[in-house]
Amino acid sequence: MQKYLSDKNETNLRLPGPVPVPFDILNEQTKPLINHRGNEYSYLLKNCTDKLKQIFATDNDLYITTSSGTGVMEASVSNFLSEGDEIIVASVGWFGDRFTEIAQAYNVKVINLSFSHGSNINCIDLEECIKKNPKAKAVYVTHNETSTGVQNNLSDISKIVTKYSLLFVVDGISSVASVPCETDKLKIDVLISASQKGWVTPPGLAFISVSKKAWNYHKVSSLPKYYFDISQYKNYFKKGQPPFTPAIGVMYSLDKALDLLIEETMPKVYERHKKVAYKIRTKLIEIGFELFPDDENHASDTLTSVKIPKGTSTKQIIGKLENKYNVIISAGQGNLSDKILRIGHLGLVSDAEIDWLIESLIKSMEKENE
Ligand SMILES: Cc1ncc(COP(=O)(O)O)c(C=O)c1O
Repeated sequence: MQKYLSDKNETNLRLPGPVPVPFDILNEQTKPLINHRGNEYSYLLKNCTDKLKQIFATDNDLYITTSSGTGVMEASVSNFLSEGDEIIVASVGWFGDRFTEIAQAYNVKVINLSFSHGSNINCIDLEECIKKNPKAKAVYVTHNETSTGVQNNLSDISKIVTKYSLLFVVDGISSVASVPCETDKLKIDVLISASQKGWVTPPGLAFISVSKKAWNYHKVSSLPKYYFDISQYKNYFKKGQPPFTPAIGVMYSLDKALDLLIEETMPKVYERHKKVAYKIRTKLIEIGFELFPDDENHASDTLTSVKIPKGTSTKQIIGKLENKYNVIISAGQGNLSDKILRIGHLGLVSDAEIDWLIESLIKSMEKENE
């Protein structure tokens, strides 16, 4: 994968997904379409599933859905719960809250354990909450909260969730394939991710891994489900098929991207992300920004969020970066929309792109202060 770091992109796409995808991976999508119920697709499906399992670091079942990440978030609720069940959602932001919204849409009772934006999940509070709510069946957490740039410590969280034998559901949409997230070692029952993030693949596919314990929950789950019913995925997978027409072109791209990630080796991929994140954070601090996470130790390695200086507007900075310097970054979400800037650094980020980003930010801020 690293060989593409020298690619010259016209735009510095620094979103927390979709990420820049090298032409070699993108062009895979232009291959002729094939029968998704034929042998060739069957091989592609099995091969991609095996490689995804390697990166998820799991022997659990894993399924590929044609959807964005929110599809598998919904699947992680509808497949394992019944109406009236209680779950704990430990949320540190917008995407954590999405689990609550989905669960409530299915009439699941949610115990909201919300932490202030910029903080990570406090494990003492989590344990207290579990003790106070003995009927809770599952804990839902976001590994990397893309709305605030906070990365939760999954190994600490796992120790608590597993101590109480609760179902452990993790949104790894913006972390898996970029930072270590070893499903089996962390005893994660359901882990989800999506193609447009660290997988360096176009949007359109999402992934869900399912432990034996999660299958037991599934057996007694009575929530309505159809498109995302994992039983359908399981039954069809036995025949080497997806239950519904897949995004064949994106599968070709995914296949190539997975080969490149595995060829680079995951420890090296994680190390690369760590270095890039450290460099970007350090440079942003050097030019006068303050990190949004309240402790650098839980700042994300896939995106950095910074507070904007008083008297400046996120819209104007983002507009200038885009129109004058071809640098695309994001504002905060919800009530953080005019408070923070979010800079994605998942996938491939070259030193030249970091310098381009930082220099453009300096110039945009100078203009902003004039
Ligand atoms: C942590 C996290 N969860 C969920 C989502 C939603 O994924 P999607 O937009 O692919 O539906 C995102 C997308 O940015 C995310 O970063």
